[in-house]
Amino acid sequence: MDVSGMRADYHSKQDLFLEENIQIKEPLDLFDKWFKIIKNDSRTIEANAMCLSTATRSGIPSARYVLLKGYSKNGFIFFTHYTSRKGQELEENPNAALTFYWEHYSRSVRIEGVVEKLPFSQADEYFSKRPYQSQIGALCSNQSKPVAGRQILAWKEKELKNTYAEGKVPRPPQWGGYIVKPSSFEFWQGQTDRIHDRIRFRKPFNNEPDGVLTHQAEDGWIYERLNP
Ligand SMILES: Cc1cc2nc3c(=O)[nH]c(=O)nc-3n(C[C@H](O)[C@H](O)[C@H](O)COP(=O)(O)O)c2cc1C
Repeated sequence: MDVSGMRADYHSKQDLFLEENIQIKEPLDLFDKWFKIIKNDSRTIEANAMCLSTATRSGIPSARYVLLKGYSKNGFIFFTHYTSRKGQELEENPNAALTFYWEHYSRSVRIEGVVEKLPFSQADEYFSKRPYQSQIGALCSNQSKPVAGRQILAWKEKELKNTYAEGKVPRPPQWGGYIVKPSSFEFWQGQTDRIHDRIRFRKPFNNEPDGVLTHQAEDGWIYERLNP
């Protein structure tokens, strides 16, 4: 099928994302501003869905969606199985990228950084707050490994429900959280004229001189416009 004609209209000129309009000069605060607007818009179902990209030690990439479960100056948190494909890749190569796309706002944010595992106490705390079915689902799954059929999972689910009542499901030992510690953020605002806005925040390189293209931000960040 030829889908080359598919394209959406993006935002109008009123939403130009200009350097002089960036009042928030700290990328986390800018993320927070965008995220809160989008999460509170009922058209957005999962504002916290983000594509997590990882790579093997030799650089072969893979990507999948996960749900953002918290963010702060320390980083961006998600939970998963450490033994999954992403977990194995992060074990051998801690570099990760997160990509959000919010279509109603024609906005995307890209975050790159290194992951660290969260303490299990934090995984326990979050796991205990998950709905019963999500807890059973996590316990049921040997994530990313082949399984002979859906009926195996259904059988496991039944067994687990017989074993563990609501409120009594233990966290699977290999299930936990990661925090991505950002070294760069890119904010993308789509424009109808296709001259999209891209502003990237990053830390300066060692001894990087003040550039004509870079602007000082707060907390040791600088930012620059990228060609669309
Ligand atoms: C919107 C969405 C949210 C998801 N959230 C999570 C999540 O938070 N954690 C998780 O382990 N998998 C989540 N998944 C499933 C993953 O995309 C993926 O199938 C799974 O983690 C296995 O990936 P892997 O084999 O690359 O490790 C989500 C899928 C979608 C579509």
